[in-house]
This record gives sequence, structure tokens and C-alpha cells, in this order.
Amino acid sequence: MARLSDEFISEVLDKTDIIDVIGEKVALSKKGKSYFGLCPFHNEKTASFSVEPERKIYNCFSCGEKGNVVTFLQKTNNISFIEAIEDLAIRANITKDFSGFKKANPNKKLFEINEAANTLYKLFLSSTKSGIEAKTYLVSRGISNDIIKHFELGLASNEFDLLHKTLTNQGYLVSDLHDLGLVKKSKNERFYDLFRERIIFPIKNEQGNTLAFSGRTYKGKDESAKYINSPQTKVFTKSNVLYNMHNAVNEIKKNDRVVLFEGYMDVIAAYKAGVKEAVASMGTSLTKDQVKLMKKYTNNIIICYDGDAAGFEATARAVIMFEQEKMNVKIITLPNKLDPDDYIQKYGNSALLDYINNKWIDPLEFEYKKSNMKIDFSKMLDIEHFKKTIFDMIKNASNTVIEAYIKRLAEDTKLSIESIRQDFNQYTKRNISNVRNVYRNKVDVQDKYTYAERRLVNYFLDNRKYLFNYNKEFGDIFHINENVRQLKDIVEDLYLENETKEMDTVEIYNSFIEKLTEAQNDFFSNRCINKDLQLIPKEYDDLIDTINEYQFTLIVARMEQQIKEAPTLQEKIKLAQYRDLKIKEEKYGQR
Ligand code: CTP
Ligand code: MN
Repeated sequence: MARLSDEFISEVLDKTDIIDVIGEKVALSKKGKSYFGLCPFHNEKTASFSVEPERKIYNCFSCGEKGNVVTFLQKTNNISFIEAIEDLAIRANITKDFSGFKKANPNKKLFEINEAANTLYKLFLSSTKSGIEAKTYLVSRGISNDIIKHFELGLASNEFDLLHKTLTNQGYLVSDLHDLGLVKKSKNERFYDLFRERIIFPIKNEQGNTLAFSGRTYKGKDESAKYINSPQTKVFTKSNVLYNMHNAVNEIKKNDRVVLFEGYMDVIAAYKAGVKEAVASMGTSLTKDQVKLMKKYTNNIIICYDGDAAGFEATARAVIMFEQEKMNVKIITLPNKLDPDDYIQKYGNSALLDYINNKWIDPLEFEYKKSNMKIDFSKMLDIEHFKKTIFDMIKNASNTVIEAYIKRLAEDTKLSIESIRQDFNQYTKRNISNVRNVYRNKVDVQDKYTYAERRLVNYFLDNRKYLFNYNKEFGDIFHINENVRQLKDIVEDLYLENETKEMDTVEIYNSFIEKLTEAQNDFFSNRCINKDLQLIPKEYDDLIDTINEYQFTLIVARMEQQIKEAPTLQEKIKLAQYRDLKIKEEKYGQR
């Protein structure tokens, strides 16, 4: 493959006006020597994208994208360097044959034929009598002329071989049409069109080459399949293509997320709602190739499949695939078995947008919802099974998450939080109170809490039942003060050593003192003992409440940390709402 000479490239660049080229995609306004506009490489509301005609460069002050007119075309059109130069040469009226400079594309001819077919389909929709009828159908589904143009929708005529006739007349080989699945051969050796009397959706690759078509019936006589698709061909394998990827690529990069739908109509619905980073897996099970295709452009995925049982199952499978690729998954579960297109018809564009931006749930929540749907809460066996499913799901999660789900489980199963927590500890051999301790140092110690812990030591010494209750609720570790924790451990050892022996308070007290080091003794007699106060169960309960409150501050602190670390504003808001909800529950709550 030959190389373009530097002189030639310079000539092309000299004859190119960077403002003209970039101006086609970005509305630019002049300020001094530069032009400014909204950056096409990221989402913004104030213009920080500048183009300098003198230096022939562009630069975004906000996201840092910069380059010249060639890189601009390469990035915004997803084309190669040579293709960008060719585009510019054509604009500058420089004639040159580029074929020796580009990798020969063996599929070029086939793409050209598909393009010719698409042109015919589009023309047939826009300018025929049957087109008017088909458009009435499209309009009834909320599809305007603009949308028809954007998605390059077309129409196949009801004549049995219009496409065959037209394209062969244009000089294309019938064998190629056959290879592309555009025509089929009948028993008596006649060629006829695959798509007849159907609305046509072209299916393209990322570069915008037309690979295949899908055709939808629109006349309501439903004896044949709703959609038929091009068969697998040299240029089309359904399982590694995503519908609308071509239009979506730049939007995916710009928004750093992709929204995945099941069908054509859903992608169109999303477009109406303003979501342009939308693609569809075209009804079949998501494949690894499709996941990889998305991952090329972003790590953030929102799955928005149909709200029916099949959509739910398909979502569950998709989540696993994305997680295997370490992608961040958000899930939309639409209500009432609606698909996104139905949802828009019923509730409007902004309602869908709201779902996508704000009402997503995370994979854990999705899993919870999925298991929850299947269980009959009046059956103990169901509840047991449900609990275990959820325990498995959360066992490696953060303590915040574990706490949250234990509470939810308690609500849904109408069991106490405490018994669920115990079951969890037993089931996973994990003591969540212990682990929670990890966050101890991150939180400011507050006097009220240390006081409660110190004071509790007196109760522990008074009667072993207090200590055992405490451990049952919080695990066996004190959370705030190391000195107090040591004292508690000593009391505990004492009870264990004398497990079978009845001891009165004085005996316990004396054995305890004996075990203390000098420092411990100092701490104990100066900070723990409060001779003015009698030990009463009511105070003990209050102290336990205080400890509970402290535990909750740890959870909130952990949530704050997550909010701080969340990459997007939306996630921050979502987490903050979650936090507020938890605080509200705690305040008015069901402890
Ligand atoms: N599909 C297909 N062949 C079929 C049925 C479905 O290829 N016989 C694919 C299409 O890509 C379709 C997607 O599966 O868009 C989802 O199917 P479905 O939910 O039935 O269609 P919708 O997209 O909802 O289309 P419409 O609203 O027009 O019914
Ligand atoms: Mn639909």
C-alpha cells in the first residue's frame, strides 16, 4: 500500500478551511481570532471548544480534546486518516485516485449494492402512493418525517421483484443480490425480493456501511412474521452487530454511556426522548461480540429491555455478560410489561428520559427485585430460599449494602432485623459487626458514644446476660475506644473461664480487678465507674440505643464516602436520595 506524500497532504490542508469543515458539525461563533462552540466530544452547556483558523487547530478547554481538521474528521466520522484526507481533497476539488492508498475493502461492492437497495426503499417510502399509506402507519406510531430521515427508514413495494428489476437494471449482478439475501430464487428459477410490503430498517456497522435490512409488516394482516431480517451473509452476522451503532458512536463517547434496548422501535423511541446513545441487540440474546463492541467506546451501560418476563430474564443474562467484562451496569425495569416504545406512547418522552436518567437500579437491586417477584411470603420455605438467595448475593458486598438489604429483607419477610442478621452471620460465617469495625477510624469519635461504651462495662460486670445480649446484637467487638474494648475482653474471658460457676457480683468484680494491668486499672477506676449511678435495665436499653445510633453514623459516613467517590452527578444524587431514605427510616423507623 502506497503512502500519501507530505506535499500532497500539505496541499490538501492548505486548501481546507477548518472553520468550514468543523462548522458543519459545531455551531461556531467568532470571538477575537478564535471561534467558539459546544464541544462535540463531550456534553456541555457553555462553549469551551475553540477553533483557531490561523494555527488550523481545535482545542476543548474543558475535556482536553485537541487536533487538526484531519483528526476532527477521523474522530467524528470514525474514518481512517486516508479517508479523512480523501474527504478533504474532494471538498477542495483536488482530483486523485485514492484506491492505491487504502486497504482494499473486499466488501465494498456488497456495501454499494445494499446502499443502492436502501436508496430505492427510501425513495419508495417518500414518493409513492403506498408510501403515503405506510407513512400513515408510521405517524400513528409517532414517527415523523425527521425520524424517518434520521433512521433512513424505507419501504419495500408489494411487487414481487421491484428491487430485483431495479438493481439489475442498474448493472448489479443478480448473484450478488442473492448473496446479500436481497432476492431469493423460486422453484421455477425466478428471482423475487425478500422484502415485500414492509417498512424497512437498514442495519449498519459502526462505519455506516449498510450490512443488512429488517422489514416490518404494517398492514395488520398478521399471518407472516412481524419482522423478517436479511439472512446471515458475507457482510452480516446478526450476533455481532448492534442496531444504530453508527449513529450512536459519537454520542456514546460524548456521554460516556450506552443505553441498550431490545428492538428497533425502542431505539427510535429513545431518540424521541433525546437519548441518542441508544443501540439495540435486535431481539436475540446478547452476545459477547456485542458486549465487546460497546466496551470499545464506554464502560457504562444502561440496560433498558422490555418490562415483561422475557425482558427480565434477558436482562439477567445481559447483566452477567457485562459484569464479566467489568462494565458498570444500570438497569431499567419498566412497569406493566411495557417496552420502551409502548412506555413513551403511554407516558410521554420525558417519562422515559426520567427512567433512564434517574430511575435506574443497580444489579443487586435488580437481583433482589427478581427474586422477590417469585416468592410467596406466606410460605416459610419460600422465605428461607429467598433469604439464602439474597445472602449469597450480598455476602461480598460492603457493610452498608449488607445492612441495607438485611433491613429490606426484614421488611419484606416481616421478620426482625436481628434474626435476619443472625441468619446472615450463620449462613456466611461472616460477622458483619466485626467487619463494620473497619470503618471505625474514619469517623470522629463522639463523647456520647464513648461514654455509652464505658458505661456498658459496668453492666457487663454486673451480669453476664448483659454481655451476651450485647454480643448477640453487635458482635463481640467494641467500636470506639481501644481501652474500653480491652476491658470488655477481660470481662468476657472471665465469664468464659467460669462458664459453669455461679459467681456473685463482688466475686466477679474482684477477679476482674485482679486481671487488670496498672494502666487498665487506672482507666477503669477513673473513667468507667460512676458511683452516683445505679444500674437499671432502662439505662442499659438507652445505652444500647446509643450504640445503635453510632453504628448508623458509620453507615451514613460510608454512604457519604460513596457519594463523594461517585463519578457522575446523577449517581451522587441517587446515592444521596438513598442515604436520606435510610436516615428517614432510621428516624421514624422500625427497630
Ligand atoms: N425481532 C426480529 N424478528 C422477529 C421479532 C423480533 O428480529 N420476528 C427483533 C427486532 O429487532 C425487534 C426486536 O426483536 O425490534 C424486539 O422484538 P419485539 O419486542 O417483538 O418488537 P418491537 O421492537 O417492540 O417492535 P414493535 O413495537 O413494532 O412491535
Ligand atoms: Mn414495541
